[in-house]
Amino acid sequence: MSEVAFPLNAPVSATASNGNASSANILVIDDESSIRESLEVLLSLEGYSTVAVGDGAEGLRQLELDNFDLVLLDLALPGQSGLELLPQIRERQPDLPVIMITAYGTVDNVVEAVRAGAENFVQKPWDNEKLLADIRSAVARHRAEEENLQLKRALKQRYNFSNLVGKSESMLRVFDLVAQVAPSRSTVLIQGESGTGKELIAKAIHANSPRREKSFVPVNTGAMPSELLESTLFGHVKGAFTSAVASKKGLFEVANGGTLFLDEIATMGLDTQAKILRVLQDRRFMHLGGVQEIQVDVRIIAATNVDLRQAVREGKFREDLFYRLNVITVDLPPLRARREDIPLLAQHFLDFYANENGVPPRKLSSDALRALVDYDWPGNVRQLENAIERGVVLSSGPIIGADLLPGEITGRSFQDALLDHNPNSSLFDILEVIERRIIIEKLERCNWNQTEAAEQFRIPLSTLNQKIKRLNIEIRKRGRE
Ligand SMILES: Nc1ncnc2c1ncn2[C@@H]1O[C@H](COP(=O)(O)OP(=O)(O)OP(=O)(O)O)[C@@H](O)[C@H]1O
Ligand SMILES: [Mg+2]
Repeated sequence: MSEVAFPLNAPVSATASNGNASSANILVIDDESSIRESLEVLLSLEGYSTVAVGDGAEGLRQLELDNFDLVLLDLALPGQSGLELLPQIRERQPDLPVIMITAYGTVDNVVEAVRAGAENFVQKPWDNEKLLADIRSAVARHRAEEENLQLKRALKQRYNFSNLVGKSESMLRVFDLVAQVAPSRSTVLIQGESGTGKELIAKAIHANSPRREKSFVPVNTGAMPSELLESTLFGHVKGAFTSAVASKKGLFEVANGGTLFLDEIATMGLDTQAKILRVLQDRRFMHLGGVQEIQVDVRIIAATNVDLRQAVREGKFREDLFYRLNVITVDLPPLRARREDIPLLAQHFLDFYANENGVPPRKLSSDALRALVDYDWPGNVRQLENAIERGVVLSSGPIIGADLLPGEITGRSFQDALLDHNPNSSLFDILEVIERRIIIEKLERCNWNQTEAAEQFRIPLSTLNQKIKRLNIEIRKRGRE
């Protein structure tokens, strides 16, 4: 006889993936009503919602009706035993954690239940605190897995994940790793040449972490002298040093609850390294000149474009800090090692810059695309992005030809490109193309300020305006720094 403690159409609990742990929905399958009742009381005191049933058939039915985060399953059920039921639950929901409950906890049963996929095993009479702790950790693990699974699914559907574009094996592996590490608090070290996307990866990790609502605080540790860097990171009290006229919060406090991105970490001085190590170890620090310890919860992501191991060998980087930072390493391959990403990235930037400049969509000519794929990209994705932005700004029609790409990429001079593309053009026409291009380039450099461009060309503004009209140059306002 099946007993149902809650109405069958009990409201569906908060979804399995994003409610907090205390709103979890738990299915109890036990034939003893006193056990069901005491579990219901215990679980409701913890804020869990519960559906309690007396046999396996009803349990399986409930699994279809509702979303659960965990099952508490009695081993000795009438009819089908818990051990027989377990594989059927797992078949329906392979990831749902099941904790077995029994009065007869023989070793054989434990082994068999664990082998059949039980998360854990609890003996009657149970210790409430221990049972709740087991439930909490199983629910948290289940949710982390669910979240991870959803991210992975999203990744498979499109090659664009948190603004990260790429379809090469190596980048898909990076995306997978990002999805996997994002939910945790682990420190991440991102290594890669300049322009490979280290900061973008750091942002993606933050954006996919439970800290996403809090700040992502980037700090370029390489750009500052030690004292300034330390006061920036840790803050200072009034009078800590000559120019400290007022007390100031440090970025560790600003990033509290969020993520601190330590960029160019290899160039940080050894003293500052020691202080950072302390915060990583103790999660507390002091303002410069201060006496009070401040506790923070900050996730650290560090980036470097040099080989940190090498820096350790050379005595420029503390070995202990290296191991603290290097819990998870994301190695970003240079663009030349993943050429299949180039067309995809190029398209991404074409769309982005056409949109940003308010011009219709642009396409690359096949020559231009070939030149991009063949080039070695010492400045990696950033260099590709700049080349495309420039092409979009300089182009007057829908197609961006190789002549609009920087010479170092095509390996051809501008003259070559002009002559190849216009074998039958008159000298006058070719000069016009050159004049047009030179004027656009100058306007670009002057941030489209015509007065400034005219001054630099040493021509009257009216002459420049006539040329702009005659050469059909579209004036653009640049919004980007
Ligand atoms: N996979 C990618 N998909 C889309 N855009 C990317 C990708 N990788 C890099 N970018 C873009 O390229 C530019 C450079 O990336 P980012 O600043 O993250 O590189 P970095 O490795 O931090 O460079 P540096 O070492 O010079 O600081 C950014 O505008 C970024 O948005
Ligand atoms: Mg960077």
